[in-house]
Amino acid sequence: MKTYLVTGGAGFIGSNHIHYLFKKYGEEIFIINVDKLTYAGNLENLKDVENLPNYRFVKADICDAEAIEALFREYDICRVVHFAAESHVDRSIKDPTVFVKTNVLGTLTLLNAAKAAWEQEDGSYLPDHRFLHVSTDEVYGSLSDPEDYFYETTKYDPHSPYSASKASSDFMVKAFMDTYHFPANITNCSNNYGPYQFPEKLIPLMLHNALNGIKLPVYGDGKNVRDWLYVEDHCKGIDMVQEQGRLFETYNIGGHNERQNIQIIHTILDSLHELLPADDPRQKLVSEDLITYVTDRKGHDRRYAIAPDKIKAEVGWYPETCFEEGIKKTIRWYFEHEDWMKNCISGDYQKYYEEMYSNR
Ligand code: NAD
Ligand code: TYD
Repeated sequence: MKTYLVTGGAGFIGSNHIHYLFKKYGEEIFIINVDKLTYAGNLENLKDVENLPNYRFVKADICDAEAIEALFREYDICRVVHFAAESHVDRSIKDPTVFVKTNVLGTLTLLNAAKAAWEQEDGSYLPDHRFLHVSTDEVYGSLSDPEDYFYETTKYDPHSPYSASKASSDFMVKAFMDTYHFPANITNCSNNYGPYQFPEKLIPLMLHNALNGIKLPVYGDGKNVRDWLYVEDHCKGIDMVQEQGRLFETYNIGGHNERQNIQIIHTILDSLHELLPADDPRQKLVSEDLITYVTDRKGHDRRYAIAPDKIKAEVGWYPETCFEEGIKKTIRWYFEHEDWMKNCISGDYQKYYEEMYSNR
């Protein structure tokens, strides 16, 4: 039985990954989910697995070396999938410090603990033990040439405190691989969307606002481009890299699905009209009139776009869900989980929204 340590498993991608792993491997694996439960961590995301005998949740900070080392002592962890991070660019612009603590120092703490547990006296590592660091395409900066893409060889050029902290964590993982031959991989993925995404990010925020007749705040001219990937395709890519990828390599994950933000918003509005029953009162609330251009994000990267050639060629990964299908699956999921959304937007979220969007 393989034992996984998933960090940040109560967040958006981490919880999807835990579902993905259980669906794929069932009782063949044991998963320990370590999560600090920040505002972005939500145990509701894991309701259907919480009572499985091969699942354990541990509330801990990845910066807490003692707590992390104790897990490596207690279990023979042979897979680490490291998601835990502060992940929202706007929050990083307001307060970068916690991004450095969690994303940089937290990653170093995990690397130290895994290295200490896995390294043998002769400097080699326990066989078939692997660490996967989940990162972002934002470390590569912004593309200006419309024909250009992010390759694994593209020079790092982060601009926001978020992407700078992720770039630093990537470099720390690279340093462990280069210096200690530590058995790891890095994946750099484009923007994800799908179930369990917290409504501070573009797609769930616009969905929630549109359904409630709240303004849709478009930063700048709305023409910034992101490369959207359905979250389950990301999880599949992570798992394939961890099982079949060459150790010490970086793999970019993305599905060649570039859209301007304003196009995304129009697609959401059209899909809502299509999926809501004709007599649903929200049909009248969902309207293009809600689109409101607001002050741009500081240092707003113009375009991200991944070239997924390497992951396709080396591990045979390809995205299964096209955007038109993925956005409908996502909208249906949010329709079926109205209470989940209500819980997310109660309490601190209102304060966040006020701070971020009033007078913008
Ligand atoms: P998220 O914000 O939804 O979830 C982050 C999780 O980490 C939360 O459960 C939170 O409680 C936990 N966490 C935060 N600080 C912690 C700490 N100090 N100790 C333990 N747990 C802590 O993020 P996400 O969107 O699921 O992203 C997961 C990872 O994937 C991140 O590393 C992010 O950089 C990367 N990524 C995200 C995207 C995207 O589009 N969302 C794209 C590419 C890469
Ligand atoms: P976001 O979901 O925050 O992801 P990231 O910044 O990591 O790419 O934002 C996606 C794009 O949407 C980005 O260009 C900023 C823009 N955006 C808005 O226009 N309005 C919003 O309210 C939000 C949250 C994002």
